[in-house]
Amino acid sequence: MTFQKINTSLVLIIFFAVQYTASTQNNNNIHFVIEETSFDRLCQSKKILTINGRFPGPTIYARAGETLVLDVENKGKDNVTMFCCRGVGKQVKSDQVEWLVKAGSTVRKNITISDDVEGTLWWHAMNIWQRATVHGAFIVHPKPGKPDDHADIPIILGEWWKKDVKEVFLDYIDSGSDIKSDAFTVNGQPGDFYPCSNNGTFRIVVDTGKKYLLRIVNAAIRKKLYIGIASHDLTVIAMDGSPLTKPFTTGYVELSVEHSIDCIFEANQHPDYYYMVVVTNISKTYNTNKVTTAIIEYQGNYIPSSPPLLPNFSLNYDKSRLIGLIEVQW
Ligand SMILES: *[C@@H]1O[C@H](CO)[C@@H](O)[C@H](O)[C@H]1NC(C)=O
Ligand SMILES: *[C@@H]1O[C@H](CO)[C@@H](O)[C@H](O)[C@H]1NC(C)=O
Ligand SMILES: *[C@@H]1O[C@H](CO)[C@@H](O)[C@H](O)[C@H]1NC(C)=O
Ligand SMILES: *[C@@H]1O[C@H](CO)[C@@H](O)[C@H](O)[C@H]1NC(C)=O
Ligand SMILES: *[C@@H]1O[C@H](CO)[C@@H](O)[C@H](O)[C@H]1NC(C)=O
Repeated sequence: MTFQKINTSLVLIIFFAVQYTASTQNNNNIHFVIEETSFDRLCQSKKILTINGRFPGPTIYARAGETLVLDVENKGKDNVTMFCCRGVGKQVKSDQVEWLVKAGSTVRKNITISDDVEGTLWWHAMNIWQRATVHGAFIVHPKPGKPDDHADIPIILGEWWKKDVKEVFLDYIDSGSDIKSDAFTVNGQPGDFYPCSNNGTFRIVVDTGKKYLLRIVNAAIRKKLYIGIASHDLTVIAMDGSPLTKPFTTGYVELSVEHSIDCIFEANQHPDYYYMVVVTNISKTYNTNKVTTAIIEYQGNYIPSSPPLLPNFSLNYDKSRLIGLIEVQW
């Protein structure tokens, strides 16, 4: 395995700028197109249902108190019921939370974000097989005047099936067969340890000393997931679109299905490449032949460790290393 140093920071900045513009400066009007799109993953190519050809779907950015207009155009073969927006126990006001977009039609919805929402929610298709690939983050920034100065990094945890997703779920309903996916994904990518995947591994390029705000959503179908970064703690500041009155710092976070969490990490280690790892069970030593990863990559001139450093969840489980809670549970 080779680890190429790629300067992606400029790409990331442009990416965020374009996304922000798309949702906030264009009369707050967002256009989603439901369509089938072909993706190469795990050495195979297949079509999945997407929004605007992306997996995960586009991030919607908004501010507390704002109203957005969302047009959803369905160019797919099936009807899709959309849901916006979910933070468990917390929903953004819209003229309808769930709405049907029939195959071939376009439906417009106004989405009003209440003043007290701040943090990360998500939108998704309701039907389970459609939800597997039609989902994305809905990030709510505070009203102007409140502190809001970290770079947003949406982290959508999802799953990839080599088989056709609709068939997988129809088979499951018919026979009770296994719906276990072939890989969990970070922003649509299983990462370096999966075959034919290291070209696409999600990378976050960081500057030493800066802080980054991870907007993490567990969009997996039914698995609780744990996420941690080698040598870096995470400071949890919001859950399900509500700021915490007492943020806390931990070695890793646990995310139940459909939940979201906002946490800050500081690039305060020596410049290197560090793995962000997603596992389903922290009590078990994870198998590096089959674990989902992304890479935190410090800018600068140095020879990175190859392979990058891996987090040790059992080490992080040692409460003496941590300030505050370890597991985030609902
Ligand atoms: C879509 O929904 C409409 C109304 O419920 C229904 O009449 C139609 O058959 C559905 N189409 C498909 C492709 O399922
Ligand atoms: C949606 O918002 C627009 C203004 O952006 C307004 O004209 C329209 O009446 C609203 N529709 C509903 C159903 O509230
Ligand atoms: C990875 O990227 C290189 C260069 O763009 C390309 O030649 C190669 O085929 C890619 N490999 C995979 C598995 O996609
Ligand atoms: C996690 O792994 C431990 C140790 O192998 C095992 O005892 C436990 O049952 C596993 N938990 C889950 C939820 O799979
Ligand atoms: C993780 O930390 C535990 C406890 O300190 C240690 O026993 C174990 O060997 C470490 N595992 C790895 C992979 O470094």
